[in-house]
Amino acid sequence: MYSSDEISYFNTIKTPFYYYKMEYFKNNLEKIKNAAGKYGYVVHYAMKANANDKLLGIIKDFGFGADCVSGNEVQKAIDLGFKPKEIAFAGVGKSDFEINLALDNDIFSFNCESIQELEIIDEFAAKKGKIAQIALRINPNVNANTHHYITTGLEENKFGINRWEFDKIIELLKSKKNIHLIGIHFHIGSQITDLDVFKNLCIRVNEIQKYFTENHILLEHINVGGGLGVDYEHPDKDDFPDFEAFFRLFDRFLELRSGQKLHFEIGRAMVAQAGDLITRVLFVKNGINTNFAIVDAGMTELIRPALYQAYHKIENITSKEGIDFYDVVGPICESSDTFGKTVQMTETKRGDLIAIRTIGAYGEVMASRYNLRDLAKSYYSDEIE
Ligand code: LLP
Repeated sequence: MYSSDEISYFNTIKTPFYYYKMEYFKNNLEKIKNAAGKYGYVVHYAMKANANDKLLGIIKDFGFGADCVSGNEVQKAIDLGFKPKEIAFAGVGKSDFEINLALDNDIFSFNCESIQELEIIDEFAAKKGKIAQIALRINPNVNANTHHYITTGLEENKFGINRWEFDKIIELLKSKKNIHLIGIHFHIGSQITDLDVFKNLCIRVNEIQKYFTENHILLEHINVGGGLGVDYEHPDKDDFPDFEAFFRLFDRFLELRSGQKLHFEIGRAMVAQAGDLITRVLFVKNGINTNFAIVDAGMTELIRPALYQAYHKIENITSKEGIDFYDVVGPICESSDTFGKTVQMTETKRGDLIAIRTIGAYGEVMASRYNLRDLAKSYYSDEIE
């Protein structure tokens, strides 16, 4: 998994740290670009998955757009050279400051989630003498079959505009002169591994499109969001996610009208497998059923196991001998600060390096300074001396 040069390098760095495998990362971007390019689909990178400058710069150079969910993300995308006309701005609660910032930069699209938001964007755009391009984020009521914290496309979720509000919105759009409807937007959830879920989304989008056609509204853009899951069990398998199958499915099942462009907002699947969290064992102690391997990374560096009971493969990359079971836990004063229970690893001792895999998405970017811990640094395979 790692070369001996990499492991020697790791031994010279202060742990914990994030480690990004740049060749893998670029290959992955190439695959996405080619698979989407076949159909002329537009891919925006969902910056929330990882806003690391170096990775973002590469994503921009590959020609992907940006999907932002805060004013700071919009600003960062612009600072790093993403074209404003390739920036979509989503989010259920955009502040006045964020709306004005996005208006000042003439972004591609505000993905709007409520009637009140439409009214406010229209009002602010009017004050600036601008016409804002907007897309309606529609709640399609499609079940993503994923963890309930990362399910977003059900009527019970806070996201999007529900079907029963459509007529009112169409009326509103007729009277508002400073917003221009360019499309509709969906995002049903994250870490979706069953492609049938996306098929269900396509079927729902087709139904919803009929409504707009019947109301003589031409939509230039359909944005189906992100959500494609990755294989956390097999971090070294590089044929998953299957981007070819993913985009092919939309080509087969989503009925685009002539001239319409289909957009995606891919976050996790672009970056997840490119990163690992490297941590060192501080102490090993015996528990009732297993041993505890207490490592120097905690939920402050990777919150996914604590927050979503997420699985990340854990490997001892120092020791090659023996086998035992460990609860791999961090130093934070919370019982949820556990990376994995009853993890089978080679015999583990103080000082060993442990790799927590597939943390490129929603790892570094969700870090916190809880317990006043320092933020962990990032290192890159192409910078190893
Ligand atoms: N578009 C919108 C509007 C979104 O809300 C999201 C993610 C994406 C795109 C990108 O979805 P992806 O391709 O990454 O699945 N922190 C959680 C995941 C939260 C996802 C939130 N929205 C986790 O660690 O699993």
